[in-house]
Amino acid sequence: MTDPVAPEGILTLDRSGDVPLTEQIYRGFREAVRAGLLPSGTRLPSTRRLAESLEVARNTVNTAYDLLQAEGVITIRGGAAPRIAEGLLPEGAGTVAATSAAGPALSKRGRLISANLRGEGWYLKPGALQPGAPALDSFPYEEWARCLRRAARHERSNDLLYHNYSGLEILKQQIVSRLASERGVRATPEQILITSATQASLALLVQVLTDPGDEVWLEDPGYLGARTAFHGADLKIRPLPTDGEGADASSMAAGLPSPKMIYVTPSHQYPLGVRMPLSRRLALLKAARAAGAVILEDDYDSEFLFSGRPVAALYGLVEEGQAIYLGTFSKSLLPGLRIAYCVVPKHLAAPLTQLMRNMGCSANVQAQAALAWFMDSGAYRKHLKQIREIYQERGSLLVDVFKRRLGNQLEVVPPTGNVQVAMTFREPVDDIAVAKAMQEKGFAVSALSNCYLGETRKAGLIVGFAGATRDQIDRGADALAALLPRHVTG
Ligand SMILES: Cc1ncc(COP(=O)(O)O)c(C=O)c1O
Repeated sequence: MTDPVAPEGILTLDRSGDVPLTEQIYRGFREAVRAGLLPSGTRLPSTRRLAESLEVARNTVNTAYDLLQAEGVITIRGGAAPRIAEGLLPEGAGTVAATSAAGPALSKRGRLISANLRGEGWYLKPGALQPGAPALDSFPYEEWARCLRRAARHERSNDLLYHNYSGLEILKQQIVSRLASERGVRATPEQILITSATQASLALLVQVLTDPGDEVWLEDPGYLGARTAFHGADLKIRPLPTDGEGADASSMAAGLPSPKMIYVTPSHQYPLGVRMPLSRRLALLKAARAAGAVILEDDYDSEFLFSGRPVAALYGLVEEGQAIYLGTFSKSLLPGLRIAYCVVPKHLAAPLTQLMRNMGCSANVQAQAALAWFMDSGAYRKHLKQIREIYQERGSLLVDVFKRRLGNQLEVVPPTGNVQVAMTFREPVDDIAVAKAMQEKGFAVSALSNCYLGETRKAGLIVGFAGATRDQIDRGADALAALLPRHVTG
């Protein structure tokens, strides 16, 4: 068997901190394949060996390899050494893409836009304690069915033809009045675009507002969905330091290239669950203004924060055109309804509507009509009140059980909202391996370190509680307690 390729000569790392090391390793290998330096089948060093020879953390290499694997540039099978994937051709001989005997190769754009940054096989199997998932058992199916029936019977207008790509006026009006009363967001219906998910809103926005190579800032740790959208558009993602007070724009070094966008979750930071205080909000606005960047405020779970005074959205503080507000019904209702929205500056509404038409990605009209009536009838408000209580109860139970069972190994802070909570390990643990092992046992928890972009990563698990039963919580804690000792790395 040949020795794995030596990284020297292929990877030269710039340690100034301007570009995350993970990105440099990932791009370095990608470029080397493109240039024909690494033909298909070439063995690569293991993550441990590469981390040692480059003098970087092992997680840095892990993440770079995960990205390369997600794009089909390398394959990692079982305990075997990573290899450059079969069928990759250097530039000139075709694109660097997997050519399958059965059909055409993916383009560069195709590989970027279809990458799975969550890791191969992630979420293919539903499981217990899945982060991001609301409860199926507390959804008001009967009320919803009534609204859907009404929509199917009464919605017989041109809206069902080739019209209204950006959404139904009646739903936009409901959203506008809810945003004004609950979130301090002033908007007009024409500023609202109804999409099928926040993921779709992000994918649309990067198309109209950025070009490949543009800079964006993303909370570190931050939301993988945002990172996926930015990666898909070939943007340069710069980590925005984030701590117990959320994103800290004032800590970004002076003289960096100006970002086009800054993505933040000020109401309830994902995944840490903290709220951004006013001083940080103002610092963020100042940095965005200086850079000419638009802030993407993802307010994904503000409808059901459990405790504390609801703080208005950051959007309420900005000048016209300085921010885009992202909302979703995936957490407060169900992701399968495929309804989310964004509030955009007026001049962007027309190009974005046209883009939605061009891409054929508008939300279902009858589901939108049903939702508008569901909101208008008071059923939405009632549902929110109910799930707030149920989720808070289940979140407390999860925290109690995990603390009691694993408190010496895990730091668990009670959630202040949302449907999941991040727990951090007290000792160095390979959380990716732990998450995979938990998934094998039927628990769809995810690794906290995956949410980090930079060198400093906390190891932990993101654990869902909204739909969790007592039995699932107990079994999840038992499973984790049983497999943790095998994954401690320090
Ligand atoms: C930070 C954040 N934003 C948005 C969403 C919801 O996204 P979508 O509307 O794409 O389902 C989630 C879901 O997990 C999330 O964690």
